[in-house]
Amino acid sequence: MPAISFQQVSKTYRSKSAHNEVRALSEVSMDIEPGEFFGLLGPNGAGKTTLISILAGLSQATSGRVLVHGHDVVTDYAAARRSLGIVPQELVFDPFFTVREALVIQSGYFGVRGNDAWIDELLHHLGLADKANANMRQLSGGMKRRVLVAQALVHRPPVIVLDEPTAGVDVELRQTLWHFIARLNKEGHTVLLTTHYLEEAEALCNRIAMLKQGRVVALDRTSALLAGTASTMLRFKMDAPLPASLAAQSRVTGRIVQIKAHDAHEVETVLGVLRAAGCQPEDLEIGRADLEDVFLDIMNGPEVKA
Ligand SMILES: Nc1ncnc2c1ncn2[C@@H]1O[C@H](COP(=O)(O)OP(=O)(O)OP(=O)(O)O)[C@@H](O)[C@H]1O
Ligand SMILES: [Mg+2]
Repeated sequence: MPAISFQQVSKTYRSKSAHNEVRALSEVSMDIEPGEFFGLLGPNGAGKTTLISILAGLSQATSGRVLVHGHDVVTDYAAARRSLGIVPQELVFDPFFTVREALVIQSGYFGVRGNDAWIDELLHHLGLADKANANMRQLSGGMKRRVLVAQALVHRPPVIVLDEPTAGVDVELRQTLWHFIARLNKEGHTVLLTTHYLEEAEALCNRIAMLKQGRVVALDRTSALLAGTASTMLRFKMDAPLPASLAAQSRVTGRIVQIKAHDAHEVETVLGVLRAAGCQPEDLEIGRADLEDVFLDIMNGPEVKA
């Protein structure tokens, strides 16, 4: 039985005037198996948070259904919710409690008593031990996000859902957080992650789905997604404009130019074109295409209906 099963989930937001409708999700179907570390990627507005809100029971699908370990998130809400630990994208918290109180209260919601040892472990692993008695409103943004992660995990849910957990989080916490989440995943917890940091997704996720305008446009093992793309990238800096014949296979960010090449022969051809045009690339590197290259290919590519 899948840990999470999305079955033809569609969502249309209607404004009161009903003049403008936003179709946030269109027939999204996928199964996430127990123990997977699954990435849900897509540009801003693709529908990731909408899908997670429906999974969390915070929002209702217009059609379709979602099951968590076989429990329907609408008709069997309590059982589905108990299996889930959700770290929301928005920082929502009650300013009147200390960090430890917030975690004890959250344990209470799930009927977990005598949770102090686990709460201490969470505080320790998330670098919050010295903030346990601080008031929530005294915490910095990154610290609040750590508390949200701890809150999601208080009842040791088998399925952990993280909606951009590392947005605005410093390098050190990112590393501690990933170390901890990876450990929980090794111990058997299923993880569903959304992030705009594609190198995180590439390193952590065994399988990835990409959403574009509410549709699944890619769904595969991370290694298969990487293998399916042009395997070589030339990266360099340059002040002069790029020769027009290379435009289609290139990406330019300020002075940084990245050009796709399928093989060594094509690398030579690209370098030949640059030389013939009198271009002088600086800091030239030739590397493997990464998930960001795959992502941009898919998002800029023709509409695909998966
Ligand atoms: N409560 C709402 N009412 C109306 N439209 C909404 C609402 N919430 C989201 N939308 C719209 O639904 C679409 C999907 O939004 P969603 O927040 O799911 O995207 P996302 O993939 O999480 O984006 P981001 O990467 O920016 O977090 C967007 O067009 C958004 O404007
Ligand atoms: Mg979102």
